[in-house]
Amino acid sequence: MLPYGRQSIDQSDVEAVVSALGSDWLTTGPRVAQFEADIEAVAGAPAVTVTNGTTALHTAYAAAGVTTGDEVVTTPMTFVATASTAAMLGAKIVFADVEDETANIDPAAVEAAVTSRTKAIAAVDYAGHPAEYDALRKISEPAGAVLIGDAAHSIGTTYHGRPVGSLADVTTFSFFPTKNLTTAEGGAVTSLRPDLLQRAREFRMIGLVRDRSRMRYPDEGAWHQEVHEFGLNYRLPDVLCALGSSQLKRLAAFKARRQQLTARYDELLADVPGLRLPIQREGVDPLRHLYPVRVLGGRRREVFERMREAGIGVQVNYIPVYWHPVFEDLGYRRGMCPVAEAFYAEELSLPLFVDLSDSDQDRVVEALRTILGS
Ligand SMILES: Cc1ncc(COP(=O)(O)O)c(C=O)c1O
Repeated sequence: MLPYGRQSIDQSDVEAVVSALGSDWLTTGPRVAQFEADIEAVAGAPAVTVTNGTTALHTAYAAAGVTTGDEVVTTPMTFVATASTAAMLGAKIVFADVEDETANIDPAAVEAAVTSRTKAIAAVDYAGHPAEYDALRKISEPAGAVLIGDAAHSIGTTYHGRPVGSLADVTTFSFFPTKNLTTAEGGAVTSLRPDLLQRAREFRMIGLVRDRSRMRYPDEGAWHQEVHEFGLNYRLPDVLCALGSSQLKRLAAFKARRQQLTARYDELLADVPGLRLPIQREGVDPLRHLYPVRVLGGRRREVFERMREAGIGVQVNYIPVYWHPVFEDLGYRRGMCPVAEAFYAEELSLPLFVDLSDSDQDRVVEALRTILGS
């Protein structure tokens, strides 16, 4: 089965990991600091690495101070973790509908959803196309809410010349194998705000405070460390950070290939009937994680099944988050975000990954053409 997404690992990646395995450090050594510096160079803001994209979101919401009674406004067109990690901190999730063109959270819907209890607004750069951060900031700032960017899909993307990672107050990344780069499991949080960054760093390290100037009992002894707020162990080990730094060296090549494949899909699928292709807004330069088409005429399920039968691993991204039974049991009902639901009903992600060959891509296009009858 041709996968819809897949890692690209070359000899330089293997050597980086092997070298870390032979070093004195398996975890929390020099490769963590190096990977964080390398992420900063791409994301335009200092980084804290964590164990995956889900824990990055948990860390970001914790750093933002999200707690019981707060509201978090987010998109339903995302992986459940964007909402569930805030819910686990006690927040009430308020879903704002998406824009029809990009499937990203609609600033007008966010504006309507914000209340005096809104602690954070979390956007997702769906498929790698950035959300409308300038418009979102105009809403988050007067509301006193922390703007969070879930950039699990979009490391390497720029928005009006600025890199994803520097656009929101806190940005989260995932380095899962299907994503734009991988550390197997892995993630990161970036922020230009030192207060949020420090809270993120402490949260991923059990909440330990080791800076004597901040200790309640600084004279206890040189061994002393304190916990002021609860945290978890979300540390990404050196061995995986070595892979991350090696992958980041290849990011420009990854971007070029994903853009080439996207342009080929745009061209080859332009005349296939019954399909709507993704768009790219003015001023954005996306590193695309997904190539999401819309299958019109109520045929998405049939096309999904026939593509799978043809050995092509298409995917659907995503079931609207509030359709998950856990949200249904909390009282959320279908119909809340009609634009997201219409998008879900038609969405199909075609294979897109760096090592996808032109001929395999041609096979995807031909299979679609056959099914849709052109
Ligand atoms: C939008 C989005 N957010 C968060 C995550 C969670 O990332 P991870 O799988 O690394 O925990 C993913 C990945 O599936 C995602 O696509």
